[in-house]
Amino acid sequence: MNSHSAPRPVVILDFGSQLTQNIARRVREMGIYSEILPFTTPIAQIRDKKPLAIILSGGPSSVFEQDAPSVNLELFKLDIPVLGICYGMQLMAKVLGGKVVPAEVREYGVTGFHREKNTSSIWTVFPDSDPVLMSHGDSILHLPSGFVGAGHTKTTPYAAMENPKEKLFGVQFHPEVTQTRNGIKFIQNFLQNVAGVTPNWSLTGYIDRKIEEIRSVVKQDHLICALSGGIDSTVTALLCHRAVGPQFTAVYVDNGLMREGETQSIVKDLQSLKLPLIVSHSSELFIKRLSGVKDPERKRKIIGRTFIHVFQKEAKQLGMPKYLAQGTLYPDVIESVSSNGSSSVIKSHHNVGGLPKRMPFSLVEPLRELFKDEVRIIGKELGLPDHFVHRQPFPGPGLAIRILGSITNDRIRMVREADRIVREELDGTDTGKSLWQYFAVLLPVHSVGVMGDQRTYENAIAVRTVTSVDGMTADIGEIPHSLMLRISHRIISEVRGINRVVHDISPKPPSTIEWE
Ligand code: XMP
Repeated sequence: MNSHSAPRPVVILDFGSQLTQNIARRVREMGIYSEILPFTTPIAQIRDKKPLAIILSGGPSSVFEQDAPSVNLELFKLDIPVLGICYGMQLMAKVLGGKVVPAEVREYGVTGFHREKNTSSIWTVFPDSDPVLMSHGDSILHLPSGFVGAGHTKTTPYAAMENPKEKLFGVQFHPEVTQTRNGIKFIQNFLQNVAGVTPNWSLTGYIDRKIEEIRSVVKQDHLICALSGGIDSTVTALLCHRAVGPQFTAVYVDNGLMREGETQSIVKDLQSLKLPLIVSHSSELFIKRLSGVKDPERKRKIIGRTFIHVFQKEAKQLGMPKYLAQGTLYPDVIESVSSNGSSSVIKSHHNVGGLPKRMPFSLVEPLRELFKDEVRIIGKELGLPDHFVHRQPFPGPGLAIRILGSITNDRIRMVREADRIVREELDGTDTGKSLWQYFAVLLPVHSVGVMGDQRTYENAIAVRTVTSVDGMTADIGEIPHSLMLRISHRIISEVRGINRVVHDISPKPPSTIEWE
């Protein structure tokens, strides 16, 4: 084994549950490396990874559906301990010859779990009637041979099952969520005491391993990275720089669509970390190409394409390096197993994603195995200041998608000034800290107002304040009324061209966080 090869993982087979990533995160927090694979992964490929244990996730399907996700019987004969969760348990029961039926009473919510007597010690983490989260419509009627029931709830006779000899276990509840009070301890128990896994995964180890890996790939060649100022590309750049020093260059494209003072602040932070950085001042080009464009998708595409153009020009001047580093994260890599087919494109996100297909680079993606919060921890270890690590998400197309309608220098000025005021009022406050994002949006409407004794006919700003865990859904962030009044008063009196402020109170879904 090479010194930089990936550690042996706990493999989580994904059957489409929203909670699959939770399982992977919880396992990593135990200091155990985990990887998610789609349930369709061939057995040989799973075996080649030499998994220490396999966890079958839950999923939205019923084992009775036609084409319901399934696994090959061989999976249970690899002599690798398996834990099935919810759908994963039902599937294990069915594939091994048990009988699953639609439940007489569907069970959703937290309920008491009663473990059976004379079961193995793995279950002792659950005191009698311990709370567990149930969410299922089918139930196991007959266990497969070799199994015994390990616990029940009021309505589910087989809420857990085991075949300790074969090291096969199943739980109908979800141990990976906090509502199941001792669920994490249970998973830990399974991994350490049944599968014999020693916790030895750490992010410091990850940094060292990746640095070595980048060195051995890049050798004497040159490596380049498109740096957006976001945490992912910045941490990627810092890792690459640590690995190959002067053979690395980061390129930051100033598209003229950043928030006030942001480009200067990013450049200052990165220069203080001695990162070799080229800043391409290209705002005029971007704004010229966006001139007169109102359609949101066209804006995004033009920005993406112009970015490629500018980046390519800079790369040529650097002698066309052989390698390109990208901040791809694990959630981008995990193959979706949505049972409804791939979800439709709502917005063309992540403009940098389009780069490699059209450019002659080999890719280096040192964060491919990491979740966002792990990237933040690594960023801190590599010396990024706190304010950088905890910067709010900011979309690649920048202010362009917060200016509804045409983009002009004057309209950029209005949204930028309003955005600065929103930030000045919320940054560092408890309210601000409770929010996922807060920003200003310039609307494509004029309305009548009165200033002094003069009639005005000017623009409106919407203030957006949202709470969220991962940006996939969002709720409206509540702002004290007095604070909202101050924000409104300041925007109207300080930003020339604005005579009206509204507060956007739409959750996602059905709205999205950004307006375009
Ligand atoms: P939406 O508007 O889809 O946004 O609800 C969800 C989260 O993603 C951010 N966002 C982007 N991030 N490139 C990015 O890197 C993009 O093109 C982009 N568009 C939206 C948005 O700010 C929110 O946090």
